[in-house]
Amino acid sequence: MWAEKNIEKLTDWVKDRIPVNVQELKTLTNEPVPNHLKHWWFALGGTPAILFAIQIVTGIFLMFHYVPTPEQAYDSVFKITNEVKFGWYVRSLHKWASELMIVTVMLHMSRVYFTGAFRKPRELNWMLGTVIFFITLGLGFTGYSLIYDQLSYWAAMVGTEIAGSVPVVGAYAADFIRGGPEMSGNTLTRLFVFHVVIFPGALVALIAVHIVLVRMHGVTEFEFDEEKKLQHKTFPLFPDHFLTECMIAILILYLLTIMSLVFPAGLGEIANPLVTPEHIKPEWYFYASFRWLKLTNIYIGVVGQIFFVGVLALWPFIDQFLEKKYPKMELTIWIGFLGFSAYLILTVWEAFA
Ligand code: HEM
Repeated sequence: MWAEKNIEKLTDWVKDRIPVNVQELKTLTNEPVPNHLKHWWFALGGTPAILFAIQIVTGIFLMFHYVPTPEQAYDSVFKITNEVKFGWYVRSLHKWASELMIVTVMLHMSRVYFTGAFRKPRELNWMLGTVIFFITLGLGFTGYSLIYDQLSYWAAMVGTEIAGSVPVVGAYAADFIRGGPEMSGNTLTRLFVFHVVIFPGALVALIAVHIVLVRMHGVTEFEFDEEKKLQHKTFPLFPDHFLTECMIAILILYLLTIMSLVFPAGLGEIANPLVTPEHIKPEWYFYASFRWLKLTNIYIGVVGQIFFVGVLALWPFIDQFLEKKYPKMELTIWIGFLGFSAYLILTVWEAFA
């Protein structure tokens, strides 16, 4: 009795200070979800969000020990991997979650693309998605550079040189990223700031806007044959969809743990700015871009990739044009299939080169 009274008092006290209308909040956040979101292929958007949350938590733990200076970066990663309790596990979770995040963002993008879910009125959300995608890649690039072993140092060197060959703004961009005309301690500081502040901050804000827009438009409606007979065309976001996402989160942690145990994050030799390694390799998701640069000259290679980024971001408008001009030819599907195949071929080519 005493406890109940006091809990009520406390709740009233909080309600007076934070005047949120719980009912209003429930209707705002708990819009019914179309049945097709029960298929994992359609619910892939939530998976990178879960992985990003894992990245933030494990990243904070890594920051307790990581030192972003050329003299101490490698040693601090060595210490995390070999001396700090469960350091190897946290580092491996962080590494594998970053790889899986990129895979799942690509899969989510493919599902949105191949189901035409980027069409009116979702064009802006697609464009926002492409920015999210490139920031995710940026997180991968900057994170890899922080390890400061030979491969990661030289991958950063090549990356900043490629940035430098972008027409007009390239030289300024490269100087800005490097914090000067050459790789130095300044470069590591900047890559660190991009990795732990600028990119994650931007992602949090952009993902929030992305999801608010999804909620405002609702998810694109599709109906499969088996659903046509169903009386209810939707199901509740909370708790049904929320619980599905929780199950996916548990499954992901399980998978990441297995990956971390079987393939723990490794560490090569300490970076030596005077010795160029025989094979410089970026992370796998840049293989296609790297192979493309090797096949063309650096100028055409870079301009070609800028063109590709523009086409990807503006695809909803290009699709509108193609649909009007060549209706029923499904050009978006064919071009998507060709683009995806080209990416895969270039990636495999570089992997085995
Ligand atoms: C961290 C990255 C991302 C997160 C957390 C995320 C999250 C989500 C979620 C939760 C949905 C609801 C439906 C679903 O689960 O598929 C969604 C839908 C959508 N996403 Fe993403 N997304 C991300 C990246 C992207 C990217 C890279 C693009 C495209 C370039 C994109 C474009 C879209 C579009 C257009 C929709 C609406 C789909 C529809 O109405 O059916 N998203 N996103």
